[in-house]
Amino acid sequence: MKLIYRSFNLTTGQSVDVSNWFSKFTLELILSTAFGVDANIQTDPNSEILRKTREVFGAPSSLRLLHRLPFGSYLLRFLNHLRGTKGDYFENLAKNIIKVRRCEEGASERVDLLQLILTANQAADETSRLSDDEIVAQSVFFLLVGYKNTSNTLAFVSYFLAINHHLQDKLKSDIREAKTSDPATSVYELAQSIDYLDSVVNESLRLCPPIFQMNRSCQEDYEFNDIHIPAGMEVIIPTYAIHRDPDAWPSPEKFDPDRFRGDTEDFRDRHPYQFLPFGAGPRNCIAMKFALMEVKIALVKILKKYKFVQSPETQVPLALHTGVMLSPRNGVFLRVERA
Ligand code: HEM
Repeated sequence: MKLIYRSFNLTTGQSVDVSNWFSKFTLELILSTAFGVDANIQTDPNSEILRKTREVFGAPSSLRLLHRLPFGSYLLRFLNHLRGTKGDYFENLAKNIIKVRRCEEGASERVDLLQLILTANQAADETSRLSDDEIVAQSVFFLLVGYKNTSNTLAFVSYFLAINHHLQDKLKSDIREAKTSDPATSVYELAQSIDYLDSVVNESLRLCPPIFQMNRSCQEDYEFNDIHIPAGMEVIIPTYAIHRDPDAWPSPEKFDPDRFRGDTEDFRDRHPYQFLPFGAGPRNCIAMKFALMEVKIALVKILKKYKFVQSPETQVPLALHTGVMLSPRNGVFLRVERA
């Protein structure tokens, strides 16, 4: 966060692409929390890993498989597909990290994701053990989905706060109040305790869900509302459209965090599957709590000192790009001011 503050201080008053900052921040964070790697992405203007990740996301064809959220055989197809394209860089990176980790003394004491996979795999019996290729593919997949969804979410929330400054003022005042009423509280507890922060993040995820659609493959013939879905057919769940369905969300285009206030009738009447930013069922996002914690802590830390301000360069409405994930087509240009 110190580095984000530094960027903000250096550019105070200027219109900057905040999605650029957030992608550096979340990439550095996933590398350190999942793989225990300290990479100076935020300070290094020529960071190779940042360049390579952008290349991968800039090549939609090479990542179309990501839509299937590749596990099992898809995961290996994903790795094979990346090989020989921009993705072999990540395969080598993951292999090196794993190699170093296996030789490291005291590695089993670590609590990052990679170590959890390696330790669990060692304990597993021969038949259920993952191959090295599978561990590499899991790691690369984690790295790519883990960083991009979260940075897009932070960029979208910043945009909505900048163009709805009265709502941003309310959020800043709720953060201040929570901190004043319990000065000893940690930023983690603070971020969890502010209901309005939860509503703001949810409302942004409603309007701009980074995973804007999900795919499922139908396992057996099924009838639904007189529609026959044969086994083997691919079914698309259109999250973006479900999130803007006017029957569930009156004035669906309006950014209104109060829709998520738990004490309203609308909230109580709404079907839980009307809101699917992290999916649902046994294959929902395994890192939902981690991602929400990351987004909320970052926002609390930023909004305690700064505010997002619409500038002449801010594109309203924001043009969206529907590639592998939903992202801002031309970045998110805002001013960040001390407040
Ligand atoms: C705000 C950020 C994020 C959003 C909106 C998001 C959203 C999603 C969605 C919609 C799915 C598909 C669920 C389904 O098909 O039902 C998913 C799956 C997944 N996500 Fe996330 N995600 C986020 C952050 C992360 C992070 C930070 C990680 C890793 C550290 C991660 C790892 C995964 C994995 C591994 C799956 C596949 C789970 C499976 O197929 O069993 N996600 N995510």
